Amino acid sequence: MKYFLVGGFGLLVLVLVSKVFVVLGLINLETFSSEARIKQTKVEQINEKKLQTIGKQTYEVFCSSCHGMDGKGNNGKAHNHTKRIAKKTVLDIIKNGSNNFKTIYPSGMPSGLVNEMEAQEVATYVANGMKTKKPKAWSVCASCHDESGEGILYVAPNIKYYSDELVLTVLKNGKKGVIGTMPDSFADKLSEIQIKALANYIRSIQK
Ligand code: HEC
Ligand code: HEC
Repeated sequence: MKYFLVGGFGLLVLVLVSKVFVVLGLINLETFSSEARIKQTKVEQINEKKLQTIGKQTYEVFCSSCHGMDGKGNNGKAHNHTKRIAKKTVLDIIKNGSNNFKTIYPSGMPSGLVNEMEAQEVATYVANGMKTKKPKAWSVCASCHDESGEGILYVAPNIKYYSDELVLTVLKNGKKGVIGTMPDSFADKLSEIQIKALANYIRSIQK
């Protein structure tokens, strides 16, 4: 009888303790452990569907405050991710040059590579996703950005779509441009998987 009582009491204590953990878990461990799980998993182990889910969640937490839940850039406050690049950005970079991505392109892009009229033509071409006829002056840009616009590693970035490399570069360096300033603080806060997932997600909303 005595043993039963002790046993029963022990069981009660166990149940109570586990309840406390469940409650704590709801508040804390849930978010904590899913973050930790993401950090521990290897990139190769993640399938496309999972990657998309992680990308969307990470975007909502870290990026949507500026870029908007729909990725369209909050009425011009940040870059619109449903397009790779806007005409006004291309024109600004041709006119002023750019040296944001120092980790990979230390000398940046020089200004004034083409004249005003050529600038208009290539900017329209780039902003339309390079789907229209190539203007003549594109050959100047192609010498660094490649004929395809997909960039050349260590020479110039991809200006056609959001490659993994491009997104990683932006997260490491931040960006100061004609739209505004993106902080450079993200790369350290995010795991390799989260960064890959973000690139995947942004590509998926680009039209
Ligand atoms: C000498 C090589 C070179 C040439 C030629 C060149 N670029 Fe670039 N471009 C770069 C580099 C390097 C960067 C990255 C700049 C940075 O670090 O901010 C860049 C950045 C850009 C960006 C911004 C990309 C982003 O993600 O913010 C655009 C748009 C662009 N170039 C368009 C053009 C166009 C259009 C031309 C042709 C008129 C051109 N570039 C010619 C090297 C070049
Ligand atoms: C504090 C506001 C802010 C936050 C938060 C933010 N961004 Fe940005 N981001 C910007 C602004 C502003 C620009 C446009 C800079 C410019 O071109 O003038 C930008 C531009 C970009 C670009 C385009 C760079 C290019 O090549 O032209 C990418 C990609 C990007 N952000 C990704 C992200 C991702 C992914 C996150 C979340 C991890 C994020 N941003 C969080 C403000 C922000």
